[in-house]
Amino acid sequence: MQHERVLVLDFGGQYNQLIARRVRDLNVYCDLKPCTMSAEEIRAYAPVGIIFTGGPNSVYDEASPHVDPAVFGLGIPVLGICYGCQLIAYTLGGKVEHAAAGEYGRRTFTFCKDSPLSAGIPQSSTCWMSHTDYVSAVPAGFAVLASTESCPAAVFGDETRRIYGVQFHPEVVHSEYGNKLLENFLYRVCGAKGDWTMKNYVAEQVERIRARVGGGKVLCAMSGGVDSAVAATLVHRAVGDALTCVFVDHGLHRKNEPDEVMSVFRDGLGMNLVKADAQALFLDKLAGVTEPEQKRKIIGAEFIKVFEQEAKKIGAVDFLVQGTIYPDVIESGKGESAVIKSHHNVGGLPSVVDFKEIVEPLRDLFKDEVRRLGSELGLPDAIVWRQPCPGPALAIRIMGEVTPQKLETLREADFIFRDEVAKAGLDKEIWQYFAVMTDCKTVGVQGDFRTYENVIALRAVTSVDAMTADWARIPFDVLERVSARITNEVPHANRVVYDITSKPPATIEWE
Ligand code: XMP
Repeated sequence: MQHERVLVLDFGGQYNQLIARRVRDLNVYCDLKPCTMSAEEIRAYAPVGIIFTGGPNSVYDEASPHVDPAVFGLGIPVLGICYGCQLIAYTLGGKVEHAAAGEYGRRTFTFCKDSPLSAGIPQSSTCWMSHTDYVSAVPAGFAVLASTESCPAAVFGDETRRIYGVQFHPEVVHSEYGNKLLENFLYRVCGAKGDWTMKNYVAEQVERIRARVGGGKVLCAMSGGVDSAVAATLVHRAVGDALTCVFVDHGLHRKNEPDEVMSVFRDGLGMNLVKADAQALFLDKLAGVTEPEQKRKIIGAEFIKVFEQEAKKIGAVDFLVQGTIYPDVIESGKGESAVIKSHHNVGGLPSVVDFKEIVEPLRDLFKDEVRRLGSELGLPDAIVWRQPCPGPALAIRIMGEVTPQKLETLREADFIFRDEVAKAGLDKEIWQYFAVMTDCKTVGVQGDFRTYENVIALRAVTSVDAMTADWARIPFDVLERVSARITNEVPHANRVVYDITSKPPATIEWE
């Protein structure tokens, strides 16, 4: 089934993916495509509406991206946001000017004329601005619909041609009625029906996978992370026992993780799930290794070898499942740079598995949709809300050599940290939080005795895409409980420190 869809044309703005996610949250499928798409390509794509994102340029810059003017003649509704709205004004004969001072942050905007965009929105409300250029005169046929103190055309539109521009960012949460404005555009201007729901998606994908796989054999590497777990569950729903999953237990997982994976997927869902017990092998290979990249390489290579051995036992398969998600496949901005995933847990698998085709059932989904899909498929929160975990897992959270004792200490400390963060209700807010085993020992005093034990560091960050991150402002009383519990309950740890470095200059992981 072909969903109705909206086209989000990417002019390089920082909120481009957020716009696409908001549209999908409003139950309309959309794709984010480079702004270089021609009017002909857009006509062939047949969207119910087009959204131009913001972008860092000024319309007058020589190198700034423009839009094929024929787009406005297609009869498809258009909403331009920030740079996108200036582009509408510039292309259709309005005037864009450079302000002496930019307008950034929270502003109040006031509607001066009703339109389909303003339905259900108070006359005055808060919006989020981030611009220097502004539209000083709207093109012929357009009316100013709203303004702020310093922005005469904060919203403008041509109701007949169904073309609208908003100077502010309706997609960010600080724009009080931003979501309502987007909803109005989709439903009142584009006439969308809203057929993009996870329930529909499950039904369609199950059909599609079933039809494609037929009686074939399917193999999936299950890492325990959200993406592979949801992909495997979806494929399992479609083809049942034709799917075999392999979980490599390298002994570097967090506390309880391997048991949880086996109990949810094999015992609970009845999946054909093979566990490869390779703890001793990995520890052996890592003995004496202290250099982080070396650790990564060893783990990556061993992972592939172990998986290959298991795959050989299963024999030739027809399909290999991969948990690729939409942000991995989007081509961004002007189309010259594709998003590259620097670390990929299972990137090397296709070369060692005897298979014919790859199945990527999450290719269309953003991370938050993958989570919603997981819930729709009945997976527990512990799996669906699992934070991203690096492929090399605890090995790069133990500074220096990885030993069984360090692993044990770190696992316990990390478990306590996760437990307290969850109890404080912060687990869905913080992007990633974990404990680190430093290779520093300090003197302590416990029960009247001098101790000389390890320093545990706590790392917790907020982020959108892991490219940049800020340290999470965890309340002191939560940190206090974590520190007290770690020093009391965990052997070989007598001090706890909290990492207050953002990325950059630090990275999220310590190694
Ligand atoms: P950094 O430490 O580079 O991490 O700021 C950014 C994100 O990537 C994860 N990460 C990895 N993921 N293999 C992975 O699969 C790796 O070797 C690896 N190193 C870092 C990290 O957890 C964070 O989410």
